Amino acid sequence: MKTRLTELLGIKYPIIQGGMAWVSEANLTSAVSNAGGAGIIASGGRDVEWVRNEIRKTKKLTDKPFGVNIVLLDKDKDEKIAMLCEEKVDFVALGAGNPVPYFQKLKDAGIKVIPVVPSLKLAKRVEESGADALVIEGMEAGGHIGTLTTMALLTNVIPDIKIPVIAAGGIADGRGMAAALLMGAQGVQIGSRFLLASECMLHPKAKEMIIQAVDTDSVVTGYSRGHGVRGLRNVFTDKYLELERSGAPEEELNNLATGTARLGLVDGDVENGLVHVGQSLVPLKEIKSVAEIIDELIGVAQETLRNAGNLGRG
Ligand SMILES: Cc1cc2nc3c(=O)[nH]c(=O)nc-3n(C[C@H](O)[C@H](O)[C@H](O)COP(=O)(O)O)c2cc1C
Repeated sequence: MKTRLTELLGIKYPIIQGGMAWVSEANLTSAVSNAGGAGIIASGGRDVEWVRNEIRKTKKLTDKPFGVNIVLLDKDKDEKIAMLCEEKVDFVALGAGNPVPYFQKLKDAGIKVIPVVPSLKLAKRVEESGADALVIEGMEAGGHIGTLTTMALLTNVIPDIKIPVIAAGGIADGRGMAAALLMGAQGVQIGSRFLLASECMLHPKAKEMIIQAVDTDSVVTGYSRGHGVRGLRNVFTDKYLELERSGAPEEELNNLATGTARLGLVDGDVENGLVHVGQSLVPLKEIKSVAEIIDELIGVAQETLRNAGNLGRG
């Protein structure tokens, strides 16, 4: 399946595995790249040497393109970016802050830059500043989110942007992928679906909680404070949301949330930690290999696109 994104990155299918803090490391990343998409190592919350090691491990596991995600809120982002320029990955996905000051350094090192943006204004700004492609991420996504939905972003952003646009948030099957491509996206970024990959290190209890979840089970904490995080409803989110509604001070909320990603995703405390996952939960029912997930996504996307041709003739 050829698009401007597959051409830009030199990949077979227009599927990027979104960087996922605490869970996307060398095994998941290389499995996605080997299966024809592009994997991303998440650097958020990790130290520089951990990320360097994962890059080196990934290079041993695949000769295909892969990327690294930088969370611009991280205090050591400058050191991480300097390290990426030494290690030379194919592309860097930047989110949660202003990515523009880092473009030149990365591009000078031969690294493509693909920022994640939540609005048309930021999409225009990163395009003007030389981004190679951009990800629009809707609030259906798991993890830290903006306010617009994926459908609204696809509608608002694509007509005004010339570089390849990658759609993220709520895309968990081939029909969603086909819809994004029909809207003009050149690729999709998927996170939640890959949480159930056999190559994903997410704790088995968190995988099971996702399998058991129904469509309305994800909630957003921190929305009223401008930093929403989507995950599965549990003891922690009930407590947090009650405090948030009662107008609790920022510090109290921050203390409650600190460390919950690692607790839920890595340690498997799925009640007191947070299992970050998006809204498209119903297709997330089975643990499969990355290759099976990608084959299924592509097979259904191609079938949906073929059938869409019939609609056009009616
Ligand atoms: C467990 C988890 C952790 C995530 N961590 C990050 C992160 O560290 N940096 C980032 O830019 N996006 C992060 N995301 C967002 C994903 O990269 C991706 O854009 C999103 O999952 C797409 O929506 P979906 O979950 O509906 O597929 C995370 C998502 C999940 C589910």
